[in-house]
Amino acid sequence: MNTRYRILKAEYLNVDTFLLTVQSELISKKARPGQIVTIKCGDEGGVILRRPISICSVDREKGTFDIAIQIRGKGTKILSKFKAGDMIDIMGPLGQGFSLYPKHKKIIAIGGGIGIFPLLQLLKDHPAENKKAILGFRNKSCVILEEEFRQACNELFISTDDGSYGDKGFVTDTLKKVMDKEPADMLFFCGPLPMMKLGVEIAKEYNTPCEVSMEQRMGCGIGACLVCVCKTKKEDDWEYTQVCKMGPVFSGDKIIID
Ligand SMILES: Cc1cc2nc3c(=O)[nH]c(=O)nc-3n(C[C@H](O)[C@H](O)[C@H](O)COP(=O)(O)OP(=O)(O)OC[C@H]3O[C@@H](n4cnc5c(N)ncnc54)[C@H](O)[C@@H]3O)c2cc1C
Ligand code: FES
Repeated sequence: MNTRYRILKAEYLNVDTFLLTVQSELISKKARPGQIVTIKCGDEGGVILRRPISICSVDREKGTFDIAIQIRGKGTKILSKFKAGDMIDIMGPLGQGFSLYPKHKKIIAIGGGIGIFPLLQLLKDHPAENKKAILGFRNKSCVILEEEFRQACNELFISTDDGSYGDKGFVTDTLKKVMDKEPADMLFFCGPLPMMKLGVEIAKEYNTPCEVSMEQRMGCGIGACLVCVCKTKKEDDWEYTQVCKMGPVFSGDKIIID
C-alpha cells in the first residue's frame, strides 16, 4: 500500500506549531472527524515509531488534508523540517472518530492545546444547526486557527490560562456558563486529561452525552502492542482498551479517566 504523499504546503502557525497540507485522495475521502494518521519521521536520530497525529481538516474536492503539529520532542522536530514538495510517509485514516448524529441539534466542541485540532473537521462536518466551540490556550501567543474555527461554528469562545486573550481561566469554566445560558445536546472534548475528566463530570451534571478523544502515547498505532491502553467500563467492572483501535474517541460514559 502506498503511504507516501506529497506535502503541498508547510507553514508555521506560531513559534512551535506548524501545519502541513498533504495531497492524498485516499485519506481525504475516507477520513472522518476525530480519526488519526501515523507518520514516519525518518531514519534520522533513531525515531523508529510512527507518531500519531489527528486529522485537522480535509478538502475532499481537492483531495488534500491538513495536520497541525506541535514540536514536543525528537519526532515532531524532524517533521518540522519538512517543506512543500517533500514526500512524507503517512498511514491512515486510523481509529474511531466522533459520532455525527443528526438528532444532535446543538453541539459544543471543547478543546485545549493540541486537542483543538481534531475538532475543526468535526465542526465542519457535523449536521447540527447550532455549533459552538470553546478553545483553551496557555496565552495569547499560543492562539491558533482562530479564523478557521470561527468560520466552522456559530459561536466561538476562547480562553487563556493567563487572560492575555479571550476569557481568563479554563475551558470548563466557560463551558458551564455557556451550558447555563443555552444547554447543548452533545459535547465533544479533546485536550489534557484533567480537562477531559472535568468535562465528563460537567456533562453528567447537565445530563448531556459526550465523547472524548484520548491522546494516549502510542507504539504501533495499529492494535499490535499494548502501549496505548486506557481504562473503559465493562458492566460492573473495567478493562483495558487499545486507544489506537477502539479510539481515540470514546463515549464519556464508557471511559475511565484516572
Ligand atoms: C490520538 C492522538 C492524536 C494526536 N494528535 C496530535 C495532533 O493533532 N497534533 C500534535 O501536535 N500532536 C498530536 N498528538 C501528540 C503527538 O503524537 C506527540 O506529541 C508526538 O508523538 C510526540 O513525538 P516526539 O517524538 O516529538 O516526542 P517524544 O520525544 O516522543 O516525547 C516528547 C514529550 O512529549 C510527550 N508526549 C509524547 N506523546 C504524547 C502524547 N500522546 N500525549 C501527551 N504527551 C506526549 C512526552 O511525554 C515527552 O515529554 C496526538 C497524540 C495522539 C495519541
Ligand atoms: S499503539 Fe500499539 S496497540 Fe495501540
